[in-house]
Amino acid sequence: MSGCCLAECVGWAALAVFAAKSLYNVSHFIYTTFLGRLLGHGIDLASCGPWAVVTGATDGIGKSFAKQLAAAGLNVVLVSRNSAKLQKVADEIKSEHSSIQVKTIAVDFTESQKIYNTLRDELNKLQIGILINNVGMLIGFGQRFGNIEDDKSIHDIINCNILSMARMCHIILPQMTKRKKGVIVNVGSLSSAMPTPYLTIYGATKAFVEKFSRDLAAEVQSLGITVQTVHPGYVATNMASHMKPSYISPHPDTFAAATLRTLGLEQRTAGYWTHKIQLYFTDLANFFIPRHLLESGVIKHFDELKKAAQNKKSR
Ligand SMILES: NC(=O)c1ccc[n+]([C@@H]2O[C@H](COP(=O)([O-])OP(=O)(O)OC[C@H]3O[C@@H](n4cnc5c(N)ncnc54)[C@H](OP(=O)(O)O)[C@@H]3O)[C@@H](O)[C@H]2O)c1
Repeated sequence: MSGCCLAECVGWAALAVFAAKSLYNVSHFIYTTFLGRLLGHGIDLASCGPWAVVTGATDGIGKSFAKQLAAAGLNVVLVSRNSAKLQKVADEIKSEHSSIQVKTIAVDFTESQKIYNTLRDELNKLQIGILINNVGMLIGFGQRFGNIEDDKSIHDIINCNILSMARMCHIILPQMTKRKKGVIVNVGSLSSAMPTPYLTIYGATKAFVEKFSRDLAAEVQSLGITVQTVHPGYVATNMASHMKPSYISPHPDTFAAATLRTLGLEQRTAGYWTHKIQLYFTDLANFFIPRHLLESGVIKHFDELKKAAQNKKSR
């Protein structure tokens, strides 16, 4: 075979592999986003157990998860800082679903040790089928890490975004293991999948979620426990207050509903369809584009956001 013919064969083979992989990716996207649930695949939420726990449940994505789990027939435990807000959300859920029990636990996840004794005592009394580790906070948006003035906020974000997830899993896993059944959803962020200078500590906490959650999933799969890692892009909540609901930044109800539809179909997901496309291209960009170019792209994005904010102020 001549060199030219060999090169042609290799070219066709590469094209065939690329076409097959693209076809698989598109089919997988359509199946996990739309078709799977229509065909009755995935996890039946109500069959997981009588109770679901949601952390960060008084606002945004967590509140939407709690409302939708109640609508699916699960009793819910709402965990957040503020007792009055917890009561308000509990009343809202009970008024919509009178047969559902709602329990509230007021704890501040920026604290490290004592709150977990309370959580363990309260949660061990219940049969927990679903745990959603949703709570998260953001500090230093658009700032250099060294310029963050409040030292305590560095401890707070690590406790809130990392420790809470690890400790909540550690509290709930023994009872799920005993029953050989359960679902854990860990909420990360698209920021874990890309360079995030000017969002360094937040991105790093979410990278922990990715690593922890995926390894835990492999560890407990044979015990009948599903662990899903969810990486949202922008969702129109208080945390992303500059975003209005749209296809790029869905309303939290839309986001939570889309994510719950992927349970049992995808172990790592971005939940909502436009975010899945973003996650796919982010993973692809990490493979093809040199890291320093991605980093400078992110820095440019933050510079533009800062400029836009300054222009708005000066108007
Ligand atoms: N929104 C986005 O664009 C976006 C994008 C990617 C990832 N995420 C992730 O999605 C998750 C939910 O975000 P969100 O946008 O829904 O946030 P959010 O609207 O700010 O809501 C946060 C919830 O967590 C509770 N909370 C905050 N700090 C707490 C603490 N120290 N202890 C206990 N509860 C606390 C808040 O309630 P109280 O104030 O009443 O305590 C509230 O219920 C987070 O993990 C976030 O990192 C969000």
